[in-house]
Amino acid sequence: MDMLDPSADEIRAWGNSVIELMTEYLGGLRDRGVYRHMFSRRIRDRLDPALPTKGTHFDELLKVFREDIIPFSRQNAHPRMFGYVQSPGTPLAAFADLLASTLNANLTVWRSAPAPVELERLTIDWIRQILGFNAEAGGLFVSGGSMANLVGIAMARQTKDHSSGRLRIYASSETHFSIIKAAALLGIGRENVRNVAVDERFRIRIDDLVAKITADLDAGYVPSCVVANAGTVNTGAIDPLAEIREVADRFQLWMHVDGSYGAFAVLAESARKLFVGMEQADSIALDPHKWLYLPVDVGCVIYRDPEIARATFAQEAEYTRMFGEEADEAFVCWDYGPELSRRFRALKVWMLLKGIGLDSLDAAIERNLACARYLESMVRASDDFEMVSAVELSIFCFRHVPAQLKSQTPKAIDAFNERLLVALQRDGSSYLSNATLGGRFALRGCVLNYRTTLRDMEILLDDLRRVAKSLPASA
Ligand SMILES: Cc1ncc(COP(=O)(O)O)c(C=O)c1O
Repeated sequence: MDMLDPSADEIRAWGNSVIELMTEYLGGLRDRGVYRHMFSRRIRDRLDPALPTKGTHFDELLKVFREDIIPFSRQNAHPRMFGYVQSPGTPLAAFADLLASTLNANLTVWRSAPAPVELERLTIDWIRQILGFNAEAGGLFVSGGSMANLVGIAMARQTKDHSSGRLRIYASSETHFSIIKAAALLGIGRENVRNVAVDERFRIRIDDLVAKITADLDAGYVPSCVVANAGTVNTGAIDPLAEIREVADRFQLWMHVDGSYGAFAVLAESARKLFVGMEQADSIALDPHKWLYLPVDVGCVIYRDPEIARATFAQEAEYTRMFGEEADEAFVCWDYGPELSRRFRALKVWMLLKGIGLDSLDAAIERNLACARYLESMVRASDDFEMVSAVELSIFCFRHVPAQLKSQTPKAIDAFNERLLVALQRDGSSYLSNATLGGRFALRGCVLNYRTTLRDMEILLDDLRRVAKSLPASA
């Protein structure tokens, strides 16, 4: 058997085995734990470390995947995987990834991948319409939200003459660290990202924003960009976007929105009004591999003015010079973003949007929002749980305070919840992560899975109560 270039029959046989495994895995998801406690050594011991000089049969490779990789992975598609901002993936997109790798299109320029680039343009334009951006806006698929934020901040830097002083960026204290990383990578400097205070709902405070910009102007800095959150990673807070636009206009700043977690919730009727003003941003980072349920990796950046993207990223070289092309066919993807070789990410976005349709996606996002609100209502009605922040979108932050803990100090309650989190993760029935809010520890969950039901939210609280009983009240 030629493992490098298998025959049609062999490809079919491999494919059938893979599909068999996939259906078995997805069919049995609810019966699996989300997570099991593991040790690096135990996993390494299962893997053959010898440098493979001879090949291995496909069935053997699949066996390793089935027996040594699946059971020792966190099951991100599980309906009670509430940690971080984790998408479940979907079979449609898994097939799209398979097909994208089969075609192995490389989206560097139009002529390298004509139909794939057209599909990317089309899907980017659908996303532009979903957001309500201007008709001339452009964008690109990138690896994820961090990369999309980097692109936005790079464009902001491009638009400001900073010969007279250091650039400054303004972002709330709740902003994702990828913004600070972008500032560091782009030479702006971590120290030039100003940490703006938040209100009681963790939204940026406009008075503090204006005060910081004014103080910086007085001190000779060059204010260049304000980052607005459309769903913070801790609590899902949405900054006052329309007001931020006004401040940006007043001080001639670039407005970048980090919508990596939250922006696709604009599709849901019950959340739409929170996003008013988002469509006025100069650039926005989004993550289809979060709330469009797609598997990693696919992030997206949309910008109002493609010419600014071009001014930021265009780079000429003799080995990439193009001959005899014009207009649309001369489109050069690398002029609009940082990457040269790019996989065919658009295929899974297109298959998802076209295959599922916005009506069903709206409904799925609406169900996620309903799950978080239901959890909040159960917590507020209980006498052993309390919310740490109000639910804004599908993130919920809360803590467990059983009767024997009520008289204890905040520090002791935080320590108990920290131990509870570790014990819950090891138990495996439900998975939460954590947040620090106002200096206090919080259990944090995020509903980002179309499989999650109201019943799963009840099971989560039951799991916490059950696991808590096995913990001592103090360490
Ligand atoms: C608000 C926010 N921004 C940016 C990111 C980074 O996105 P990625 O992990 O796709 O790089 C995240 C990730 O969770 C996020 O929640």
